[in-house]
Amino acid sequence: MEDQAEKLREIMRQKKDAEERNSSDVKEGKRARIITITSGKGGVGKTNVSVNMALAYARLGKKVVVMDADLGLANVNVMLNMIPKWNLYHVIRKQKTMKEIMVETEYGISIVAGASGFSKIANLNEDERKGFIDELNTLSNADIIIIDTSAGVSSSVLDFIAAADDAVIITTPEPTAITDAYGIIKIIATEIDSLNMGLKLVVNRVKTVAEAKKVADRMTNIAGQFLNLKVDYLGFIYDDAVVSHAVLRQRPFMVIDPRCKASLCVRHIVGRMEKSDIKESGGFSMMMKRFFGRE
Ligand SMILES: Nc1ncnc2c1ncn2[C@@H]1O[C@H](COP(=O)(O)OP(=O)(O)OP(=O)(O)O)[C@@H](O)[C@H]1O
Ligand SMILES: [Mg+2]
Repeated sequence: MEDQAEKLREIMRQKKDAEERNSSDVKEGKRARIITITSGKGGVGKTNVSVNMALAYARLGKKVVVMDADLGLANVNVMLNMIPKWNLYHVIRKQKTMKEIMVETEYGISIVAGASGFSKIANLNEDERKGFIDELNTLSNADIIIIDTSAGVSSSVLDFIAAADDAVIITTPEPTAITDAYGIIKIIATEIDSLNMGLKLVVNRVKTVAEAKKVADRMTNIAGQFLNLKVDYLGFIYDDAVVSHAVLRQRPFMVIDPRCKASLCVRHIVGRMEKSDIKESGGFSMMMKRFFGRE
């Protein structure tokens, strides 16, 4: 069996190579920013955050693709009431390209569907994995690629985190969710060269701002103290009845009620992501370009 650590190092190397290859494209703002949404515990809101963050980005004029990286229990298409003909399974089997299975939604975002009922992408061999990362790069005409992962720390989830520019970890204030979120942060710290990626935390389903801050402070402090890892607190999302109502209606809550508490929180989170993009990835030259149209 392939050594997991070596496998992850290889993915990081591929990412770096792609960055160098695309450095001229980056200047044109062409390489997609890959944001992987993950959690330790299941059911904490990853798919809702993925889809609704995508919509918030689309509202800012970005071209966004949401990829459902779950082959066991795919959710993104269900949340959008879509039954795509092709999905990630066909890409892995090399029957379709990533671009071919990408479908546009009525909401101005595109999706790449996962599949239900197949045993994990974890069983990808090295060739398949390489092909997969390449396929992901063919989507580079998107500005943002959001990857919704399955819960937990399977090796495929770690692959998607390693391939990301930003890993967004979702937790709720529940002690079990916090413990599991810490678990995944710890694994990221030991298994992934996370230096050239942003690690971000979102606290979902909170009742008050103070509750969110308490959870975030605890997590970011522990990560800093024990793992020497910088985790940025990106923001929180209120526990909001509109969310489950939207899930039942199979429409994003940003569409059902763009001004509900949860929607406003997600917009705020995307606003912060945008700021961190200028600061961390773009640097000075990107800022000059944004303001003056040249470097
Ligand atoms: N902010 C919120 N307010 C109220 N309910 C929420 C909120 N976020 C999530 N939920 C509830 O939690 C459920 C699970 O959310 P979601 O499917 O996004 O989680 P997930 O992390 O993707 O789950 P899985 O690990 O199974 O993929 C939703 O159907 C909804 O009912
Ligand atoms: Mg999900």
